[in-house]
Amino acid sequence: MGDHEKGIIMRLVSIINCESGMVLAKTVFHESGRKLLGEGFELTNKIIERLADQGVTHLYIQDKATEDLLVEDSIPLEVRREATKTIHHHFQIIQSGQKASMFESRMMKDFKRILDMLISEVKATKSLMNLLSHIQVHDHYVFSHSLNVTLYSIALGVKRGFSEKQLYEMGLGGLLHDIGKMLIPPEILHKPAKLTAEEFEFIKKHTEDGFDLLRKQADVPLLSAHCAFQHHEKWNGKGYPRGLKGEEIHLYARTMAVGDVFDALTTNRCYRGAMLPHEAMEIIYADTNTHFEQTAVERFRETIAIYPIGVTVKLNTGETAVVIGYNEHSPSRPLVRVIKDPSGHELPSYYEVDLMKHLSIMITECDAIL
Ligand SMILES: [Fe+2]
Repeated sequence: MGDHEKGIIMRLVSIINCESGMVLAKTVFHESGRKLLGEGFELTNKIIERLADQGVTHLYIQDKATEDLLVEDSIPLEVRREATKTIHHHFQIIQSGQKASMFESRMMKDFKRILDMLISEVKATKSLMNLLSHIQVHDHYVFSHSLNVTLYSIALGVKRGFSEKQLYEMGLGGLLHDIGKMLIPPEILHKPAKLTAEEFEFIKKHTEDGFDLLRKQADVPLLSAHCAFQHHEKWNGKGYPRGLKGEEIHLYARTMAVGDVFDALTTNRCYRGAMLPHEAMEIIYADTNTHFEQTAVERFRETIAIYPIGVTVKLNTGETAVVIGYNEHSPSRPLVRVIKDPSGHELPSYYEVDLMKHLSIMITECDAIL
């Protein structure tokens, strides 16, 4: 532990904890790549509400003092923008019903190009994956979800030692796993209330519809099509559409299932707020061997940033701290900077604690309100 000068801490704050007067420390983009609100923008309640409605789950907020904490994007903005644009473009063609031409070679060429990019970016990432660092507003949940599932699946595939060919097949499966949803009427897909049993049966069909669409395309490997077919199967056989069990579910689909649920939980949906990674991870642990394959969950835990940089935490010492770095081999024990004493008073000088080296200190609360 050593003393540090006061520094600006770019704080990650859940949208529900954001208040008017807070100043943005990181730009908010539209999924198309358009800049919506720049760094330095002062929030108002109206803007916060609007952002929450548009699916923004958290913001990076400027804090007083210096600027020493940099939140790096896991995937460079340009790459993400290019990938989202491609997904946007081709999914809309599919949605508009131009089925005959939809899998023309242009589309597959585009998907191959972005997958090559995404795979090499993920492989080059040394740090834990934090997709929360991209603050985005989106029009259509399926687009950004497809990209996130692809990224989580590739990262998990790398951890599982997949070959390039496997990463590509599963990555393509990730991009297209929910393609069947593009055929669901928007009033059901985006229904803000709970679905009726009948509507839910309809939604479930996106697995079979997606598979039917994809398996007919010569350029789509059959195993990628099976990702669409099998991504809602569960390890205990209680998933859909076929109730496959354990290793009857293809390795790609088992791997993808974890990122699919994790992204759904950490993203704002119309019927509930978003969870932070550690909360979503708790749910996933609890479903190991029932919903998920154990190995997939264990590797996933080593892949993602459970406590993202910038998040405010409470320690069992009563102190308040901010996460400032990761321990790759122990994601639940990050490096933190202590900023307040147990009675809530700001420390005259902050200090850092590596939770990996101080095993008696634990995080007891995340996204703590200051
Ligand atoms: Fe799905």
